[in-house]
Amino acid sequence: MSDQEVGPNNNGIDLSDAYAVRTPEDSRRLYAAWAETYNKTFIEANSYVYPRRVAELFAENAPASGFQDVIDIGCGTGAVGSYLASLRPDSIIDGFDISKEMLAQASQTRRFDNSPVYRNLLEVDLTSALPNHLYSAMTSAGTFTHGHLGPDTFFRLFSLVRISGWFVIGINAEHYESRGFAEIIQSATVSEIISQPEVHVVDVYGPGSPHFGDKANICIFRRQR
Ligand SMILES: C[S@@+](CC[C@H](N)C(=O)[O-])C[C@H]1O[C@@H](n2cnc3c(N)ncnc32)[C@H](O)[C@@H]1O
Repeated sequence: MSDQEVGPNNNGIDLSDAYAVRTPEDSRRLYAAWAETYNKTFIEANSYVYPRRVAELFAENAPASGFQDVIDIGCGTGAVGSYLASLRPDSIIDGFDISKEMLAQASQTRRFDNSPVYRNLLEVDLTSALPNHLYSAMTSAGTFTHGHLGPDTFFRLFSLVRISGWFVIGINAEHYESRGFAEIIQSATVSEIISQPEVHVVDVYGPGSPHFGDKANICIFRRQR
């Protein structure tokens, strides 16, 4: 992807640009240009229902009490956190993302009581550095996908969650087997690092979207050791 294709004034950004991402630098460039219009031109225009399903499955599966904080990986403009805060108003949510422009959008999200959805928002390239904080749970939508975060990063991220903590993580279904997510999960399960995941196959987009039919695997599991 060149600067010309995704420059700050490019209003024609779409899913094909997101699928063309190969490196963290590509992500920085794409989302810097897209952040301001992402909610309208991507979430609304494509009826992107995936963050809501992740938040719903989180609320249905992770216990309502005993939680300290939840980390939203690749939080973007804050879609997962916003749904989660509406379903679990007491939840304390942090967000990590490589794009400071996407984080700036997330910082504007508000709960019903007008308090910020996110406690802390951290600009970080998760393919290299990992923040030094232990969370009670981890969630994510749309970030374990084409050219964004791969299985190696996914595996390293397990260490950010306390023993017995929860994961509700969406992974692009097309990449689940082919890019090695299934293999990493299988190996971490066999070595008892995580529990056997429950996998929910969900729609990423609603009916009427040009991309209707794309699926994600939402994996629910716990850290064991
Ligand atoms: C498709 S967006 C999903 C955002 C949000 N979770 C949602 O569902 O709307 C993917 C996000 O992953 C972030 N991302 C990509 N590569 C990253 C990296 N190496 N480290 C941290 N975040 C990254 C992008 O900046 C972007 O905000």
